[in-house]
Amino acid sequence: MRRHCRLDCYVANKVIDDPLWNKEFGNKTGYTPNDILGVPLKARGNILGVIEVLNKKEGEPFEKRDMDILTALSLRISTILEKIKLFIELDRSVKQFATLAEVGTLLNSTLDQAAIRRRAMEAITRLMNAEAGSLLLVDDEEKELYFEVALGEKGDKVKEIRLKIGEGIAGWVAEHGESLLIPDVRKDPRFYRLADEKTDFVTRDMACVPVKVKDKTIGVLEAINRLEGVFTEDDIKLFQLFSNQVAIALDNARLYEEIRETFFATAEALAEAIEKRDTYTGGHTKRVVHYSLAAAQYLNLLPRDLELLKLSAILHDIGKIGVEDRVLRKPGKLDDEEARLMKMHPSIGADIMQHIKRLKDIIPGMKYHHERNDGKGYPDGLRGGDIPIIARIIAVADAYDAMTTDRSYRNKLPHRAAIDEIQKEAGVQFDREVAEAFVRAFETGKIEG
Ligand SMILES: [Fe+2]
Repeated sequence: MRRHCRLDCYVANKVIDDPLWNKEFGNKTGYTPNDILGVPLKARGNILGVIEVLNKKEGEPFEKRDMDILTALSLRISTILEKIKLFIELDRSVKQFATLAEVGTLLNSTLDQAAIRRRAMEAITRLMNAEAGSLLLVDDEEKELYFEVALGEKGDKVKEIRLKIGEGIAGWVAEHGESLLIPDVRKDPRFYRLADEKTDFVTRDMACVPVKVKDKTIGVLEAINRLEGVFTEDDIKLFQLFSNQVAIALDNARLYEEIRETFFATAEALAEAIEKRDTYTGGHTKRVVHYSLAAAQYLNLLPRDLELLKLSAILHDIGKIGVEDRVLRKPGKLDDEEARLMKMHPSIGADIMQHIKRLKDIIPGMKYHHERNDGKGYPDGLRGGDIPIIARIIAVADAYDAMTTDRSYRNKLPHRAAIDEIQKEAGVQFDREVAEAFVRAFETGKIEG
């Protein structure tokens, strides 16, 4: 046996006598090598593979010339292989960034926090080429992490799991605010086995990043089991970029929700301030809002109309700001002139609102809440379907509250009697469909009796 290595090459005759020889090759192929020449495939200092040639024709041993030719060939092959590898990596990066841009647009196309969380969770598997993904949120009070969104048949079991901050891999990420790349979770003592046990899922590798809003960790994103190979540092960088987008989208939605709540609270405060001038209507606005929304559950309104209904109900009597105290606060029945002044309040309210761009859409519901189905209402004497649906709903809610609260000139009716009155007036004073929805809301306990 002759063996020597020169310039990283391996040359031998009687290779089967070399302890380095893998006998399995001969056993499996039935081929008996004698002479062998091997050169490495190298690119940028990395070994990509090895080229071997066996048994030169005519039984000649391999010579220096053979070595030079194979080395030159290996250089060419290495260069081509390296280019292919770089091309594949580049192609993968381009695809990943395209997905990142796509899911980023999707996240920012809504201001609904629950929708953002669900979309973020759904995007993880696509973006990270992973088998599964999770979004855990931090519960500040309990100092725990919980699965806000868990999809699929195992979702409910996953939702039962809560991790202490610091517990498990996600808990570690939440505590330290840093990403983690775990190529083999079984070897990581932080791995929380209970989640797999509860769901019969086998976690192999994981990429885990914090979701941070202004340096505060509000959640953790996990990508589980890469579908090809294991997660890399490049994957983690991409995942962190995605997490930043999730954080921005969630923070925008939270700010929008805060502004929206402030807006509603301001409208309520305004309505209550005006209500205070009235002698008898304590809590009237709140009740009309509640009754209107309860009846609307049986009327198939669009979410946008429900929002308008709520705001219109809050502000329906705002025009009373323009009604004099002697009329508004008069104990007992109003005379004709006083009634005429009082009946101006829907139009006054509409006049006020038309100056506020954001509130223009509530004018129809507010202006026509005293119209009647039979056309005998005010201010315009509209009939039936000409009356906007929001106004038809507020009309029933307003009347029900008027009947079930005391007035200076009459005592309140029992709730059941007021409901009977609404049923009697269905198709006359009130819209039939709205009256029926109101009765259903009462009978199912959504309007307390
Ligand atoms: Fe009114």
